[in-house]
Amino acid sequence: MKDRDCLALRVRSGRLTLLDQSRLPHVQAWFAVDDVDTLVEAIHALRTRGAPMIAIAAALLVAVRVEAGDDRETVGRAIARLREARPTAVNLMHAMDALARALEQEDWRTAVVHNAEALFDNDRALCDAMAEHGAALIGAGERILTHCNTGGLATAGIGTALGVIRRAHERDNSISVWVDETRPLLQGGRLTAWELGELGIDYRLITDSMAASFMAAGEVDRVLVGADRIAANGDFANKIGTYGLAVLAHHHGIPFGVVAPHTTVDAGCATGAAIPIEQRLAAEVRGVTGAAGELSWAPANATVANPAFDVTPAELIDHWILDTGVFDRMEVEAGVFQFGGAAVG
Ligand code: MRU
Repeated sequence: MKDRDCLALRVRSGRLTLLDQSRLPHVQAWFAVDDVDTLVEAIHALRTRGAPMIAIAAALLVAVRVEAGDDRETVGRAIARLREARPTAVNLMHAMDALARALEQEDWRTAVVHNAEALFDNDRALCDAMAEHGAALIGAGERILTHCNTGGLATAGIGTALGVIRRAHERDNSISVWVDETRPLLQGGRLTAWELGELGIDYRLITDSMAASFMAAGEVDRVLVGADRIAANGDFANKIGTYGLAVLAHHHGIPFGVVAPHTTVDAGCATGAAIPIEQRLAAEVRGVTGAAGELSWAPANATVANPAFDVTPAELIDHWILDTGVFDRMEVEAGVFQFGGAAVG
């Protein structure tokens, strides 16, 4: 395998290493991923995260194992296990399904490695295409609100929603960003704020519950978010809190856009109701958890609900910004996503 490098993933001399996102922004530590157990644990702990990134990391680990000489059966088991590592983001499933098909070929070693490498390389191009389509929508000086982290940390390229923001900023440096901190795991406060700071893009960090009042005050011009899975009818799952933002944006007449590669479309899910939602640990809501230790403020036995994602219905969405183009509600209602979102330019 050729060496590859992006913000949160490296392949060097056939070895995969990942940036530990659970320790950002204060500690930038890389860890080696040589086996499936390590990657499954890292995905569960969100050391590596974001729908495209977990798919790419899993595929490259499979390629590493193939090059290390694992036999076909062992590689098949690795693919099956990684496919189940997180339930909501469909990119992981699509990637593992593609590798499983490559495994069926006669020259399966070459096919699997090529497939995994292509996933990384294509993701960069997908990010650029989304950025071009999305940036064309953004007007001078817009103040854009975003949620969770959808940038270079979550992809092999410049990101999805954050990639659009980055491209828009390259063209007009007067745009600015409202960053939702994104409870419970604070991807906005820890990761998006860090990325925007590194890029020199003007931002203000807010707690999730502040979005409504800034919208009411006329201080938000657009909402852009990523997606973990888009159903055939245009409903989509994304980080918990996204649905609330869509309701708020609708109420205030603020354009709401979802940005994702066509590989995030799951034509097998007719509506958002069919998307499985990951349920996470109570400790994440009872306080804060992370590599730096835990701080708990709720009663130790507090009963908790902790869905990691919610579903935003298509009726609240103005723009679906894919690598294949920008789609509006009429196009989505007409069935643009029924075949995976790739059919229309
Ligand atoms: O739990 P996370 O941090 O993996 O959640 C990530 C998101 O919800 C992102 O918005 C989504 O994966 C798109 S990333 C380009």
